[in-house]
Amino acid sequence: MGDSSLKAKLKEKIEAFRPRTTKLMKEQGKIVIDKVTIDQCIGGARDIRSLVTDISYLDPQEGIRFRKKTIPETFEALKEHNVAGCEMPTVESFFYFLLTGDIPTKAQADEVAADWRSRAEVPQYVIDVLRAMPRDSHPMTMLSTAVLCMQRDSQFAKRYGEGGLKKNDMWDPMYEDSMTLLARLPPIAAYIYRMKYQGDTFIPADAKLDWGGNFAHMIGQKKPYDDVARMYFIIHSDHESGNVSAHTTHLVASALSDAYYSFSAGLNGLAGPLHGLANQEVLGWIQNSMKKLNNQVPSKEQLKQFLWDTLNSGQVIPGYGHAVLRKTDPRYTAQNEFAKKHMPNDPLFQLVNMIYEVAPGVLTEHGKTKNPWPNVDAHSGVIQWHYGVREWDFYTVLFGVGRALGVLANIIWDRGLGYAIERPKSVTTEMLEKWAADGGRKLD
Ligand SMILES: CC(C)(COP(=O)(O)OP(=O)(O)OC[C@H]1O[C@@H](n2cnc3c(N)ncnc32)[C@H](O)[C@@H]1OP(=O)(O)O)[C@@H](O)C(=O)NCCC(=O)NCCS
Repeated sequence: MGDSSLKAKLKEKIEAFRPRTTKLMKEQGKIVIDKVTIDQCIGGARDIRSLVTDISYLDPQEGIRFRKKTIPETFEALKEHNVAGCEMPTVESFFYFLLTGDIPTKAQADEVAADWRSRAEVPQYVIDVLRAMPRDSHPMTMLSTAVLCMQRDSQFAKRYGEGGLKKNDMWDPMYEDSMTLLARLPPIAAYIYRMKYQGDTFIPADAKLDWGGNFAHMIGQKKPYDDVARMYFIIHSDHESGNVSAHTTHLVASALSDAYYSFSAGLNGLAGPLHGLANQEVLGWIQNSMKKLNNQVPSKEQLKQFLWDTLNSGQVIPGYGHAVLRKTDPRYTAQNEFAKKHMPNDPLFQLVNMIYEVAPGVLTEHGKTKNPWPNVDAHSGVIQWHYGVREWDFYTVLFGVGRALGVLANIIWDRGLGYAIERPKSVTTEMLEKWAADGGRKLD
């Protein structure tokens, strides 16, 4: 395959950027930018500045910015790429932007679409592997397995194995693998959906459709769900580097594992209930609350009681709280605005809004969480449910397909900038106790 203009642009960008990283490492490498406390050491490395990415940045107050743009600014900047008659830009145009930081022209976005289309055929062995798995396997297990088994196709592993792949050229096969993986994710996810939940019947891809639109078509959805798919994939794409799925993908890739190994590992982290699986849990929790009240939308008092019952039983309120954010997640807001426009009378949506009025107060009174406001997962499931995607355990797969855009863009840049293998230092509890008694570790 000849090199695309995206790849040429990326090469130019990486080469222009590389001296900045080299200078920081070589000339300014010993400058101190953070300190580490015992609670950070035991408490999940929270807030320690020890990762670098220029693809997105998460501000605790305003939420995510992709390439310095907020979510509304991103949609505004890409609006020339809105699909005809739709409110959302193509995922292809967004990926170009995420990878390069530039808004693509129509021709550049079309080229990404054509490139993905040319790579989209899912190999028969992937289908065979999926079909050999117990049908009640979690769809995230299926997705992760499908990604992992494609590792045999890795260009990166092949070129590395042949020898002579120079460090500065490693981004090239990482890009190739990432593009192939991205092209195949929607048909693989759709295959899992139709095999597991739609009687093993399939809808072939439509070459006229964009990446997001095609996914909607292949799972059997009609308008405006195509826009739901585009919006989901875009808003779930990236949340800087420290979250479990992004960090895992980056960590595994730092060992020069290829994109298939790395992303499959990232998906396994996304499948955890404190991360991506929360969006499936939110819906279960909401519907449970309605069931207990004979399927009526509860009053605020009843809802308050239900929130307290959840907390008093030792559970978290799913969809609320965040490791970094301290305000309402703009990804929640983007979905809320879409729902207000397209499904204002949906009873579950009304309940989501009521929870937003009550839960922050209850969580504040409860006094544990540092952030009583909703995150992206508080809204995701309700929109899917409205449009008839009612298989909760599939929701994390949707998150995973979107998350691929960000984490793969990151590992391409990781190789472009030659980031090192990750190897933080661990200490023993005894050492911590000693340093605590000494009032801190003596730094030389
Ligand atoms: C996202 C999450 C894992 C972040 O965890 P964190 O960084 O440790 O959050 P905090 O520092 O605010 O946690 C402090 C305490 O508040 C609790 N807390 C945080 N969010 C809570 C919630 N939604 N409901 C109840 N308690 C919560 C934590 O469990 C912790 O309690 P502990 O000291 O007994 O262990 C956490 O907020 C959570 O579990 N939320 C619900 C699940 C969810 O929505 N996940 C999707 C994230 S995008």
